[in-house]
Amino acid sequence: MAQLWGGRFTKDTDQLVYNFNASISFDQKFFHQDIEGSIAHTVMLAKQKILTEEEKDAIVKGLTGIREDVDAGKLQITSAYEDIHSFVEANLIDRIGDAGKKLHTGRSRNDQVALDMKLYTRDEISHVDALLKDLLTELLTIMKENTETYMPGFTHLQKAQPITLAHHMGAYFEMFKRDRSRMADIYKRMNYCPLGSGALAGTTYPLDREYTASLLGFEGPTMNSMDSVADRDYLIEFLSALSTIMMHLSRFSEEIIIWNSNEYKFIEIDDAYSTGSSIMPQKKNPDIAELVRGKTGRVYGALMSLLTTMKGIPLAYNKDMQEDKELTFDAIDTVKGCLALFTGMIRTLKFNKDIMEKSAMHGFTNATDAADYLVKHGVPFRDAHSIIGHLVLTCIEKGKAIDEMSIEELKEISDVFEPDVYDAISLKTCVEKRLTIGAPSKTSMEQAIAAYEAYLKE
Ligand code: ARG
Repeated sequence: MAQLWGGRFTKDTDQLVYNFNASISFDQKFFHQDIEGSIAHTVMLAKQKILTEEEKDAIVKGLTGIREDVDAGKLQITSAYEDIHSFVEANLIDRIGDAGKKLHTGRSRNDQVALDMKLYTRDEISHVDALLKDLLTELLTIMKENTETYMPGFTHLQKAQPITLAHHMGAYFEMFKRDRSRMADIYKRMNYCPLGSGALAGTTYPLDREYTASLLGFEGPTMNSMDSVADRDYLIEFLSALSTIMMHLSRFSEEIIIWNSNEYKFIEIDDAYSTGSSIMPQKKNPDIAELVRGKTGRVYGALMSLLTTMKGIPLAYNKDMQEDKELTFDAIDTVKGCLALFTGMIRTLKFNKDIMEKSAMHGFTNATDAADYLVKHGVPFRDAHSIIGHLVLTCIEKGKAIDEMSIEELKEISDVFEPDVYDAISLKTCVEKRLTIGAPSKTSMEQAIAAYEAYLKE
């Protein structure tokens, strides 16, 4: 197959070189964006009288026809072409003849590929955002149903203070909400059109770059033609935001795995979202959560890879930058797959609320509140801390929770204790007295839930 750039060459490319250089196996992913960009470029060229109306109509019709035929499976994108841009242009010339040869006027594959990748990424930012929203919707449902489902909150994976399941899910709601706002930030910052920058130094044709940008839904044109073809910052930002999403999903997965263990039994993963063992008949494994946790490394890898690729590239375009594609596509597909599966798994999770509550009762999660009780009766906090430490030690020896100790036993530790201590350190009190913004009480959580509902309606 003749190359777009064959004129200067007297020999064919070595086959191995051709294969090494070619990008069609992966850049066909933005075939639709390539057509969309070419149509906008053509319409602009005609408006500027660089193409006639007839030439424009022929090119647009040809491009639309190629799109339809590929979508219908009548035309195959094959490795006979170096890249998707060559495929489209060669087929256009086949269909409409000489007018097709004018499509590339005032354009280089450098600004063309910069545009295609941006259009593709822009679409994918919206897809990822929609999937994050689905996950948030699911989390909110769980929150609404569980404002009084008590469970232990952990630090160092040791029971710390009692919280509710709504409160725990709310923490993830905040994380994925921030992930969405990162999507919005990146979209806003990247939404400038590189087309019309040429190979690196613009062009002598009187292109209307503002017009092309507006046809393609951009905020405006990019302002430096060298940067336009050499900028991959938006991909690095996107991969970084995708890595953060994976980090959140991975932490959540880790908790699902722990909660699903025989030791915790806080949750049961639906049969549809777990797998068995080929040898151990009793097993029901949290494979989805484990795979999400595992795939996190792959997305981080994409970020590190592109950062490394970009770090030594002199201005402007260099072929190294072709390496941005496969890893970005893989990261996007991985994150979208993980988000969709994770949301499904969360939707079908069964929470063993009794076990969660029992776990909160046994583990001295009310020790801080017992110390606070003493403080309210005049004991300095540092002394109270030490008294309760001593009490916990005694409880461990006796195999009892603090509230299972008789008042006599409590008084042996400190005569400040009165029978009203039981109410003061009950699980319900421990949670429901925590009324500050962001705290686990039902009152505080209901405020958060109302705010989240309004946010999801936006
Ligand atoms: N496949 C190339 C890429 O992805 C397209 C741009 C080619 N430009 C060039 N000057 N060789 O970067």
